[in-house]
Amino acid sequence: MTTASHPPDGSPTAGPGAGRPVALVTGASGGIGEELARQAALDGHDLVLVARSRDRLDHLAAELERAGAGVEVLTADLQTDAGIGAVADRLTATGSPVVDVLVNNAGYGSVGAFAELSPDGLAGEITLNIMALMRLTRAALPGMLHRRRGGILNVASLASFLPGPGMANYSATKAYVLSLTEAIREEVTGSGVRITALCPGYTRTGFQERAGVRTQGLSGPAWQSAPEVAAAGWAGFRRGDDVVVPGIYNKISVSTIRLTPRPLVRKVAATSIRRLH
Ligand SMILES: NC(=O)c1ccc[n+]([C@@H]2O[C@H](COP(=O)([O-])OP(=O)(O)OC[C@H]3O[C@@H](n4cnc5c(N)ncnc54)[C@H](OP(=O)(O)O)[C@@H]3O)[C@@H](O)[C@H]2O)c1
Repeated sequence: MTTASHPPDGSPTAGPGAGRPVALVTGASGGIGEELARQAALDGHDLVLVARSRDRLDHLAAELERAGAGVEVLTADLQTDAGIGAVADRLTATGSPVVDVLVNNAGYGSVGAFAELSPDGLAGEITLNIMALMRLTRAALPGMLHRRRGGILNVASLASFLPGPGMANYSATKAYVLSLTEAIREEVTGSGVRITALCPGYTRTGFQERAGVRTQGLSGPAWQSAPEVAAAGWAGFRRGDDVVVPGIYNKISVSTIRLTPRPLVRKVAATSIRRLH
């Protein structure tokens, strides 16, 4: 089910397109995506907000409109062909304000032994984290290249850099996101179009609850807040960075992973993820 909407009070939305650039953010109803939408609005963008939770999107839309942004709400389930198709249609629509920035943020991961997780859940993870991201990127990119401006911010993960025993499927989807983003970046060099991968580490959001992980101990040096991660991601995207790893702890982790033999990386990852079960 996919709907474009007006604010909750029924008054017509100003909508995007009053001369400001437009950013479309998937998974904008909470967590990192909600904060990325706030960052984009602060940076002078109008917004197209995408997720399934209409109430939460309407609430954010009202807040951003009060702050002066034009906002369109697009309710879509990105685990369905219809939902992905509707958002892809919005990205290529000629009758609506052009989308200058695509933020592929919606995603989730399940925790547990691969052999015990539900096959449908695993497939759904691939649909959302890979298929939707790929199809939206493919929909948005030709127009951006034609206009020689705009960009894509793909939310990957620290998990992109290593196999994740206990989150094997999720880590593999995020390896895809990082690899795809880096490869496309090379293809579009010199075109005026930017593409960046944001690779957060542990971030306090609704992600943990949905993944069914223990939420005690969500503090400590490894953990960041969604506003911190989004601010680093948006700033890196604006600078034209290829890969943004937010936070000093995560930066050290990535450098260490690159220098460590793979079998040892797998063992340390397994221990770290086991603490979440
Ligand atoms: N939190 C972390 O520790 C962490 C670490 C590394 C990377 N990440 C990545 O960061 C991104 C955002 O995650 P988060 O931590 O902010 O999680 P979150 O708080 O659970 O937010 C996930 C967002 O994705 C949307 N979403 C989920 N399923 C969807 C579907 N089928 N169709 C459309 N939208 C859907 C949710 O909205 P609805 O439920 O309203 O649809 C929500 O807005 C994800 O790609 C995640 O893999 C998170």
